[in-house]
Amino acid sequence: MIVLNDVSKVYHIGESEVYALDHANMRIREGEFVSIIGPSGSGKSTMMNIIGCLDIADSGQYLLDGQPIEEYTETELAKIRNRKIGFIFQTFNLIGNMTAAENIELPLIYQKISREERKEQVAQALEKVRLSGRGKHKPNELSGGQQQRVAIARAIASRPSLFLADEPTGNLDSATGREIMELFHELHTQGNTIVLITHDNSIARQASRSIHILDGKIREVAR
Ligand SMILES: Nc1ncnc2c1ncn2[C@@H]1O[C@H](COP(=O)(O)OP(=O)(O)O)[C@@H](O)[C@H]1O
Ligand SMILES: [Mg+2]
Repeated sequence: MIVLNDVSKVYHIGESEVYALDHANMRIREGEFVSIIGPSGSGKSTMMNIIGCLDIADSGQYLLDGQPIEEYTETELAKIRNRKIGFIFQTFNLIGNMTAAENIELPLIYQKISREERKEQVAQALEKVRLSGRGKHKPNELSGGQQQRVAIARAIASRPSLFLADEPTGNLDSATGREIMELFHELHTQGNTIVLITHDNSIARQASRSIHILDGKIREVAR
């Protein structure tokens, strides 16, 4: 599903070059639960942006479901992101003046899904994250863990083929983090592909496979 061939991303800072990704090679199959682990500054967010089609590599090739991403226009990439990828961020990225249900519904509006279907998908997604009954709450009326569950419901509602999470438990206490990890396990059991990015070993270990990243270089470690 995900194939990176010699992917590099370089930032120019004054005279110097920083390889945020340095000839990275990676393969993730459909239905896998993979963690990408590395310390701060190792290139994790850059990797997430590439895998999530939010950014394009400077060199190398990224194939998503066999399609070379470099060949698409920004409009086409936006469509691919909406259709295929469910993003989950450390800071939840919910819209503050919208209710939980409205936050979950918003991407479905962009996908031109009918009102009736949207209501159904929002209800199902809220149920999956065990937040039925909280749909009318605004983010600031919910705990951090609940807000992250809304963000996961928003991802679920679009029925993506890939869940891509960048430090999803980074802003949560460890008990709440465990609840969030349980949800990812459930999604994995239901056949979804999950790529979870973290600097936390205890989180990374819970995936079926861990890919290590350091100074933009990929190292696969067998367990
Ligand atoms: N927009 C940017 N401009 C310049 N350097 C950047 C930019 N984004 C990331 N970097 C650099 O690329 C490297 C990888 O960053 P990042 O992918 O954010 O790492 P991580 O998410 O693992 O902390 C770091 O050295 C960082 O300073
Ligand atoms: Mg980061």
